[in-house]
Amino acid sequence: MKHLIAPSVLAADFANLQRDIEMVNQSQADWFHIDVMDGVFVPNISFGFPVIEAIRKHAAKPLDVHLMIVDPDRYLAQCQKVGASVITVHYEACTHLHRTVQAIKDLGCKAGVSLNPHTPVALLQDIIQDLDLVLIMSVNPGFGGQKFIERTYDKIRALRNLAAGRNDSLLIEVDGGVGPANAAALVQAGADVLVAGNAVFAAADPTEVIAGLKNVSPQIQHA
Ligand code: DX5
Ligand code: ZN
Repeated sequence: MKHLIAPSVLAADFANLQRDIEMVNQSQADWFHIDVMDGVFVPNISFGFPVIEAIRKHAAKPLDVHLMIVDPDRYLAQCQKVGASVITVHYEACTHLHRTVQAIKDLGCKAGVSLNPHTPVALLQDIIQDLDLVLIMSVNPGFGGQKFIERTYDKIRALRNLAAGRNDSLLIEVDGGVGPANAAALVQAGADVLVAGNAVFAAADPTEVIAGLKNVSPQIQHA
């Protein structure tokens, strides 16, 4: 499978959101990455359901919703209602992760679990077969524009090994500090979905950057 590109709307111009969404629609991007922050799980607040609903009205591609919030169970149904195709919760925010994952699937959405940089992938051993996606944070969540943590490559490889034979269709998503400088290496390590915020929206030609991320060194991609 060719890897997917998910521009993070967090880095878009909120005063020109429709324009930026149309740009993504016209580009080679695959998903819209939507970062929801509650000011409790992470030290920042982003946006909530009215904004996601407004995005949905214009978005012609699936919404990949990344919940950086405590007690996400309270908001899963609302997420689905405003148009999420993928709902990702944080391992660190879920006491009963298995129940949360089943609830996401019961809503008809793809279920993702995200790991903070300090959380080992081995902790997913007993749930990996139930997941559609694992999002590896390659920065500490809360802000766009941070420096990529190099240790992420080892985590992607470890996760691919953990999933082998247990869940071969698992999507591995990488989020934070991703851009043209590391995209090829991430895909080579086993990443299936690249999230990019500032690398896309702060660029002079965002469409061109998306095309570059989508078409990195295909000869070295994993099968
Ligand atoms: C960070 C968010 C990311 C963020 C990535 O907490 O989860 O999705 O938007 O932004 P960049 O690509 O600028 O690091
Ligand atoms: Zn994110």
